[in-house]
Amino acid sequence: MSCRLHRPTIFHISALPAMRNALLCLGMTLILSACGGSDDNASSTPNLPSNPSSPNTPDETKADTDWRPAGGSATITADISQPFLQIMPNLPSSALGGVSPGRELFITQWTPANQGRVLFDGVGPLFNANACTQCHSAEGRKPIYANDGELSNAILFRLGDAQGVAHAYYGEQMQHQSIDASIATEGKMRYIATVEDDKKSRSIRFEFTPTDSNQPLGDTAISGRISPQLVGMGLLDLIPEADIIAASDAKDGISGRVHWVNEGPDQRIGRFGWKAINSSLRTQNANAMSQDMGLTTSIFMDPNCTVNQPICWTAENGGTPEVSDSSLDAVTDFMTALAVPERRTGNLSTFNKGANLFTQVGCAGCHTPKQRTGNSDRFPLLSQQTIYPYTDLLLHDMGAGLDDGVKEKNAESFEWRTPPLWGIGIVAQDPEARFLHDGRASSLTEAILWHGGEAEGAKIRFKQLPVEQKKMLLSFLNGI
Ligand code: HEC
Ligand code: HEC
Repeated sequence: MSCRLHRPTIFHISALPAMRNALLCLGMTLILSACGGSDDNASSTPNLPSNPSSPNTPDETKADTDWRPAGGSATITADISQPFLQIMPNLPSSALGGVSPGRELFITQWTPANQGRVLFDGVGPLFNANACTQCHSAEGRKPIYANDGELSNAILFRLGDAQGVAHAYYGEQMQHQSIDASIATEGKMRYIATVEDDKKSRSIRFEFTPTDSNQPLGDTAISGRISPQLVGMGLLDLIPEADIIAASDAKDGISGRVHWVNEGPDQRIGRFGWKAINSSLRTQNANAMSQDMGLTTSIFMDPNCTVNQPICWTAENGGTPEVSDSSLDAVTDFMTALAVPERRTGNLSTFNKGANLFTQVGCAGCHTPKQRTGNSDRFPLLSQQTIYPYTDLLLHDMGAGLDDGVKEKNAESFEWRTPPLWGIGIVAQDPEARFLHDGRASSLTEAILWHGGEAEGAKIRFKQLPVEQKKMLLSFLNGI
């Protein structure tokens, strides 16, 4: 570990109009818009429909409550101390041949080139963290915000603008670490939580201080990205493209959009990352290795240096590429074989009422409860499984409040992929857990209250629910 952090403080973020500002002599500050209100505010809304499914709800159908295991054959019990990063049950030993070394590569701390660990070297020259597990936790989400404005390694920052142009010097992602003093780090990001005049509203600003003061961020915007829990990745990889496309039609004011991205000569559907920029698990993993850890692969052969960072290119490398295809395949096997913790229903009748509310309010319009996988030759156990990921894998316009000014590939700055919600309740058991792409929300309710754009109607209906129903919906969310 290169840096240890204090436990983060929890602070609330609430109503503020969306705004973004460039400030500061050395760097740029992004003012994250804030919204929200507490559970209390929301639940005291007087104007409550007695039946939330009428008159203006988009979907009056009842939820399908004929539950099967949450992740099909990849389901494990949630009743363990480390419910994430577990390998699915019943894998044949032939499959374990890739999965086990993949797990090893995932948890190891990679070293800089030529330090005698041939399989595990080549990190940097610039990087955010030296192990996948510095960001992806087996328990939930890693702490991000420390007390004193410091940030942990588990949040990274995309740099760009609303046209999708990366920063000429820093590239598309800021790396705050380097292998040694001969190669300067790019800079340091801090956050500032401010209390606004009404004493209730808070906002988070990210503030970048470049190592080289001649390289200001200028007008480039900053998009914070927290590390998601990794659940059932192989199952999401197997949802047929035709099913994702079929769900993309505009309906009920919700118009999910497929994020088409280039994969080699082909156009494929992006499905991984907060903006669905990666179309397959293998590319996602190679991208993480490249941008987050400075490891080259056959997919990304160049180090993560821009043409304007000449010294960065002079660093020794740990092989060409640093991560062999067989290592990349092994990590991909491990990610593919990740299990899904079973839902925790508690009282089934209350849980089912929560499921119905989730559908009636309109959450299911994007957070699609049920999907079915296609076929996998490599992992036949994952084929034709009914799963409950609560995502359509589509991009949605989430409104100005969640627009942080960075377009990535073909996803606009205000568009985000519906994140899968399976396991979100386990994450929320940690009172310090943070939600949404940059972790601005410190509770599930706050995350919902940030929803805007295509999700505005669902948010309003959620706010209008009577207290008891709101509790039911939240306890359902905590159980999926
Ligand atoms: C510095 C922190 C960091 C490191 C190190 C890191 N990741 Fe991630 N990972 C993230 C973030 C942040 C995202 C979301 C990225 C985005 O929005 O594009 C992510 C996304 C992912 C996803 C997609 C999750 C989803 O729900 O779409 C996978 C799979 C993944 N990472 C695997 C890996 C692997 C494998 C490694 C090690 C080779 C790794 N990550 C290293 C931070 C990290
Ligand atoms: C129009 C599509 C849409 C609708 C409708 C919608 N969501 Fe979301 N939801 C999203 C997107 C996209 C995000 C990610 C936004 C971001 O990170 O900036 C998200 C994020 C979340 C998160 C945080 C997830 C995380 O990993 O941190 C929760 C919780 C959530 N939604 C619950 C709900 C609930 C409950 C409802 C119904 C009241 C709802 N959503 C309605 C699209 C939608």
